Amino acid sequence: MENRNWSERVQSIYSLDTSRELRFTENKMKEIIEAIRIKNARNILEIGCGTGTFTRKLREKLSLDSQITGIDMDSNFINYCKMRAENESLNNIQYTEGDALSLPFENNTFDACTSHTVIEHVPNKKFLEEQYRVCKRGGYVSILNVRPELALNSKDNITLTTREKVLMNKIELYKKKVKDDLNVGKYFNDPQNILRLFEEVGFREIHFDTVNYISCIDDYRNSYKRKRLIIESEYESILEFVNMIIDKKENALTFKEKDELISLINERYVKKINMLDKNERLWDFNISPMIIISGRK
Ligand SMILES: C[S@@+](CC[C@H](N)C(=O)[O-])C[C@H]1O[C@@H](n2cnc3c(N)ncnc32)[C@H](O)[C@@H]1O
Repeated sequence: MENRNWSERVQSIYSLDTSRELRFTENKMKEIIEAIRIKNARNILEIGCGTGTFTRKLREKLSLDSQITGIDMDSNFINYCKMRAENESLNNIQYTEGDALSLPFENNTFDACTSHTVIEHVPNKKFLEEQYRVCKRGGYVSILNVRPELALNSKDNITLTTREKVLMNKIELYKKKVKDDLNVGKYFNDPQNILRLFEEVGFREIHFDTVNYISCIDDYRNSYKRKRLIIESEYESILEFVNMIIDKKENALTFKEKDELISLINERYVKKINMLDKNERLWDFNISPMIIISGRK
């Protein structure tokens, strides 16, 4: 049976792909490639590839004779990845549907395995053991794991009204239900434990690194197009979430409340776009730290 849980209940193709496009800038990809020790790998596996944004970015940075495979359990994501690869003639990338905890590959197949924001959703040890199994001796396995507890955020100049907060709180309850149903973030682990697990599973030469994702709309280096995309992708991901709730008839909000919430969200984002168009600054920012752990088989 097809699995579309993530794309239909957690994050849609549009919002996942756009958020990653914004995140994986040229400079960040250089830092990441260095930290995951993948430069010389020829046969690479990305686990839980979602919309394939990271796979495509890796491809841009690696030699064209490398082969990259993306695997994810969500059929919508994999179909989207395949469509992009075909339309853009990305001949050295392939995608397959499958479970990270039972990878459909022979032992010792890949020079490197990597994953971005996946380890927190699956039992960590089994996740690493499977990659240890399919990785060749001498190859590298790495995980990239965002740490929201260390994030630094601006106090938004355009704050939510009390009413919007009340309605959003109702949605938070639904969010918790989805998280429980789908194990979203269930296995979020202390970095020290992840390091220990790398060693327990058998990896050597273990590295511990960090990369910060920074978003600041008014940063001078952002083009108008990028500024607008940051605002729009945030807006779309909030709207999409509100719509997912009503579509699944979870009754978190009545139809009237949903309409009310959408108009409050619209108002807030129209203000942001107007500010941008008038060249007024908001100085909103977000820093999301990410840890990167890699080990050699
Ligand atoms: C937060 S998303 C990250 C997607 C992608 N790595 C990125 O950063 O854009 C987590 C992904 O892991 C996938 N996933 C979760 N559990 C999985 C499992 N057991 N096997 C394969 N994929 C899984 C989900 O379908 C989803 O695409």
